[in-house]
Amino acid sequence: MTPRLWVSCAVLFILLCVSFVPLRAQKFDGLALTPPMGWNSWNKFGCAVDERLIRETADAMVSRGMTTVGYRYLVIDDCWQGQRDSLGWIRPDPLRFPSGMKALADYVHSKGLKFGIYSCAGNQTCAGYAGSRGHEYQDALTYAQWGVDYLKYDWCNTTGLNAAAAYTTMRDALFAAKRPVVFSLCEWGDNQSWLWGKEIGHLWRTTGDIAPCFDCEVNHGSWSSWGVMKIVEIRKGIRQYSGPDHWNDPDMLEVGNGMTVNEDRVHFSIWCMMAAPLIAGNDIISMSAPTLEILTNREVIAVDQDSLGVQGFRYTCTPEGIEVWVKPLVRGNWAFCLLNRSEAARTIQVKWPEFKLSDDISKLAFDPGAATFAIRDLWKRQSLGSTQQLLRVTIPSKDVLMMRLTKQ
Ligand code: GLA
Repeated sequence: MTPRLWVSCAVLFILLCVSFVPLRAQKFDGLALTPPMGWNSWNKFGCAVDERLIRETADAMVSRGMTTVGYRYLVIDDCWQGQRDSLGWIRPDPLRFPSGMKALADYVHSKGLKFGIYSCAGNQTCAGYAGSRGHEYQDALTYAQWGVDYLKYDWCNTTGLNAAAAYTTMRDALFAAKRPVVFSLCEWGDNQSWLWGKEIGHLWRTTGDIAPCFDCEVNHGSWSSWGVMKIVEIRKGIRQYSGPDHWNDPDMLEVGNGMTVNEDRVHFSIWCMMAAPLIAGNDIISMSAPTLEILTNREVIAVDQDSLGVQGFRYTCTPEGIEVWVKPLVRGNWAFCLLNRSEAARTIQVKWPEFKLSDDISKLAFDPGAATFAIRDLWKRQSLGSTQQLLRVTIPSKDVLMMRLTKQ
């Protein structure tokens, strides 16, 4: 053999070796560098889902300006499933989705939205439909064929399963199917998913289900769902696990589902302070103007979507029921949210130098003695002067003053 032929053979051999090295399965990196935003059918519609609702919701997300402010994913939750065929391939319910999921996903994509779906690590979903257990690779292939971009994966009927292993199986199946999918782990925090979820999914539920009330517990017999402030109280001390591409998920929004406008504003504000995924859960088609205004306030959303990706925290609370929430933002800026949890309006004075604080997790410090910050009221969309002045405000019962402090 001539030297030239030797070199050619060697190159060919190396190329063959490289093409047979299996790619290590992983989650699709970089799909959720800021908390995912979208809509999910469950909180408002439960099992009453069909293709008409999804198409009309897609239309409304565009016409009502939701897409303009960042809502991207339209996710069908439980109850879309029909039977598996004789070979085990899952089919949608033919009565609710007669045109099939591919056609529906195409429609959603044609509106500039991404398409999401739901399944469960158990052999049945929480509502009793076909789950993915034993069919993970088949289901992932089916989702890829349909054009699914987001999978919410639940945890019912999983007795005896190891959570991290079960979620890893589906992650690997999605990876093998080769279509990038945001993977939403819905294990309710029962197995502390924040400790192992980062390598597997882009977001993980931290609690059981949310309910459309401010501070209540709704007892369903063997389990409870929780009002928004209960959700906030249930999990503390896990903010260090959240960040770009791996978010704590305190559950989908209940804005527009029955609370007062003030309470909805609190709910949305605190979710944004916590850098929570913003998955609307209301009827987008017929929502009221105040609901739309809350869901589409760009300046409040910008706090949630801040690229630093640090989950904010409750800094203090006063005996009168005023909680002070803070969130470090990019370029040395901060968000502050004063929440009045009490039953009466409260007038408060803010002496900014007293708010000098440092955050152990992000290692960032807020020092209005060392720099002046311009203050903006994000809900009223107006200036509140600067940290050089005393701030005096009245906050109605169960309402917030949410502010961005921009370094001068
Ligand atoms: C669980 C989840 C909910 C919803 C239902 C559907 O309860 O936590 O968010 O997906 O299942 O059955």
